[in-house]
Amino acid sequence: AAGARAAQAVASAMSVFVTRRIPSEGLRVLSQASGCRVQQWDSEEPVPRAELLAGVAGAHGPLCLLSDRIDREVLDAAGPDLKVISTLSVGFDHLALDEIKKRGIRVGYTPDVLTDATAELSVALLLSACRRLPEAAEQVKSGGWTTWKPLWMCGYGLSDSTVGIIGLGRIGQAVARRLKPFGVRKFLYTGSGPKPESAAEFGAEFVPLTRLAEESDFVVVTCALTPATQGMCNKDFFGRMKKTSVFVNTSRGAVVNQEDLYDALAQGRIAAAGLDVTTPEPLPTDHPLLSLKNCVILPHIGSATYATRSTMAVLAANNLLAGLRGEPMPHELKL
Ligand code: NDP
Ligand code: DGY
Repeated sequence: AAGARAAQAVASAMSVFVTRRIPSEGLRVLSQASGCRVQQWDSEEPVPRAELLAGVAGAHGPLCLLSDRIDREVLDAAGPDLKVISTLSVGFDHLALDEIKKRGIRVGYTPDVLTDATAELSVALLLSACRRLPEAAEQVKSGGWTTWKPLWMCGYGLSDSTVGIIGLGRIGQAVARRLKPFGVRKFLYTGSGPKPESAAEFGAEFVPLTRLAEESDFVVVTCALTPATQGMCNKDFFGRMKKTSVFVNTSRGAVVNQEDLYDALAQGRIAAAGLDVTTPEPLPTDHPLLSLKNCVILPHIGSATYATRSTMAVLAANNLLAGLRGEPMPHELKL
């Protein structure tokens, strides 16, 4: 009985702050956990910084989003009871990991469950950009479609192409797996080192970034944002790409130097780009990139299927609860 009372005391001490409206399946996991007190910023819009600081105060664990910057200020506002941070994302560049580690706080995240959805979106974006789908659809609406013309609305296809993947991780491999049946001739990849086991399925060759830029007909960026990858796709990179090549980014906007990308697209130094991620997000509606016909931009929807978002929310909730109970998390980020 004493043990049960102690467990109850621990459980009732669980106070969590959810920083946004999330799929109900995830919230239900938290609200049904015994002794878990849930506070939430119940809105589709991001929690204002002051509300975030107030919301985490005294919380044992926030469930946050990639749009919440969790830095020293937030950790200080939370105070010493903070035990775990659960993010509704696989990316963790919004978390001040050094500071989090120093304080002994555990981190949960959502790998694997969004890999298929994000890879699928990456392929959709690549095809939209290389076959000019938004531009062509616009022609139908505007009356630009006058007749079938042999030289009109031509783009580039995947058949017999070389595809370069920057970051052959979970999503990078899932993209390659989906692109292979389109008739891709050769896969190249870069990363912190060769990954022969992952690469074998595609016969992918590990190459320096410069060679990947020079030889790829399609470049797909699926790496994590780190100090090493920040601004990696810059003037030099785009300058090395072929005039006929297509650039796709579904990782993080900051991997790309957007001014350099704009110049490359505007001056026809590369054929087209597809971006699911930008800097900043949202991209201002008067941003120069939005004036280009050869640039397809989506509002960070890589993982946005109903099923995936629901699964992510449940996983993030279970990560949080496990962390609060001092148990192994379904997916803990090793710090
Ligand atoms: P993984 O950790 O499996 O893959 C990340 C890859 O980045 C690794 O293969 C790693 O390669 C690579 N990488 C690290 N450093 C470098 C470098 N210097 N140069 C090239 N590659 C590098 O993560 P996921 O595949 O699950 O997710 C990848 C990223 O996708 C996330 O971090 C997130 O930012 C983004 N994402 C975006 C989504 C969207 O909605 N658009 C949805 C989901 C994720 P190595 O192992 O060799 O270090
Ligand atoms: C992530 O998980 O990092 C994505 O950007 C959103 O799903």
